[in-house]
Amino acid sequence: MVNQTGKATLTFGDKELELPIYTPTAGPDVIDITKLYAQGGVFTYDPGFTSTASCDSTITFIDGEKGELLHRGYPIDQLAEKSHFLEVCYLLLYGHLPTAAEIDDFEYRVTRHTMVHEQMTKFYSGFRRDAHPMAIMVGVVGAMSAFYHDSTDIADPWQREVASIRMIAKMPTIAAMAYKYTIGQPFVYPRNDLDYASNFLNMCFSVPAEEYMPNPILSRAMDRIFTLHADHEQNASTSTVRLAGSSGANPFACVAAGIACLWGPAHGGANQACLEMLKEIGSVDRIPEFIARAKDKDDPFRLMGFGHRVYKNFDPRAKVMKQSADEVLDLLGIEDNPTLQVAKELEKQALEDPYFTEKKLFPNVDFYSGIILEAMGFPTAMFTPIFALSRTVGWISQWKEMLTDPGQKIGRPRQLYTGDTLRDYVDVEKR
Ligand code: ACO
Repeated sequence: MVNQTGKATLTFGDKELELPIYTPTAGPDVIDITKLYAQGGVFTYDPGFTSTASCDSTITFIDGEKGELLHRGYPIDQLAEKSHFLEVCYLLLYGHLPTAAEIDDFEYRVTRHTMVHEQMTKFYSGFRRDAHPMAIMVGVVGAMSAFYHDSTDIADPWQREVASIRMIAKMPTIAAMAYKYTIGQPFVYPRNDLDYASNFLNMCFSVPAEEYMPNPILSRAMDRIFTLHADHEQNASTSTVRLAGSSGANPFACVAAGIACLWGPAHGGANQACLEMLKEIGSVDRIPEFIARAKDKDDPFRLMGFGHRVYKNFDPRAKVMKQSADEVLDLLGIEDNPTLQVAKELEKQALEDPYFTEKKLFPNVDFYSGIILEAMGFPTAMFTPIFALSRTVGWISQWKEMLTDPGQKIGRPRQLYTGDTLRDYVDVEKR
């Protein structure tokens, strides 16, 4: 917990309360209201948590006004350019960039946990073939707690560590199996001689009938997508994981809860929704029509991949993603990709429109990621599972941080009740 640097005075009715103010290492000051109810008998009201810090954390910082994202202080664009996903995992989990020996050891540990319990393969066959892979992910990851009993005791630091490594290692296997299941192809076992991203591509795209070698440039692009999604401080799914974990639930159950939350189109599901929207627009001449719809208060349509609760400037991840989209399409020899053309022109026209600039709506990470993933060969339904596998390290790092916080307690918000007050039960014949 940061030190108190000031105090705020809150006056209401005949009460005057002094509330501590803390100054974080970055970001706005925070007023501590934890004693507000005990001392003042009132709650605060903040649906959607627009002004509420739910925890203190040392992992990730976003400056939404500047469009800056830092993991343990390191900017995401530097990590995307110079680092790689497993190194970023290490950084998020342990707080520092690893030495050569530390990363070797970490990679060794992760790659020795990539297989899933063989019995888990049977679990998949309980799903319909047309199940959304996110539905399968929620079920299978939740079921991990039924397979890995030796890493569900959250009071044991060693078991927490083993569960963390297991999840980072197995999530690509689980996501790839979900994909293979829905297309009716045999599961492909992980290959520990491949790097993390290449192994995932191999499990998704190879078949037993022929040799497959992931293109190193595509592996790099895949790794960058993982890196760009690795963590994003107290977003909806991470807060879900923390809330689930605050009751003492095991880590697999908590991550399953995070996956369920991520699925929604306002969050991780936006990458699928965005590509579908770009395809529906189809050609640049139809862009004004869709922009008009997004601006129309009576039309629920929104520009998917646009806007963010925290960023009021460019999402730094979107910039890297846009550059990556150009590189990948170029590598694959996909010239004049109509979806990319629509995306670029849509971005341009939206950013020239006062509706978007005044509301500070900019492209977010999901705006270009779908174009890359589709070019790599992934169907849209796999976009959000790929986000989930990338975000797993963030969920786990935040969950571990929460459990080692000495002041940790169950998360339990209050409410502003607007329902009926006490009334007597009415027998059915009198209603
Ligand atoms: N298109 C059109 N208008 C928008 C959009 C959009 N994409 N996003 C926000 N607005 C408008 C809203 O209508 C609202 O206008 P109003 O003030 O006139 O009522 C204003 O901008 C503020 O929007 P809110 O929904 O209040 O902002 P909030 O912070 O709650 O929502 C969110 C953020 C959910 C990301 C929103 O911008 C959105 O729905 N975007 C599209 C979905 C998307 O891309 N989600 C991915 C987010 S990133 C991630 O999870 C990885």
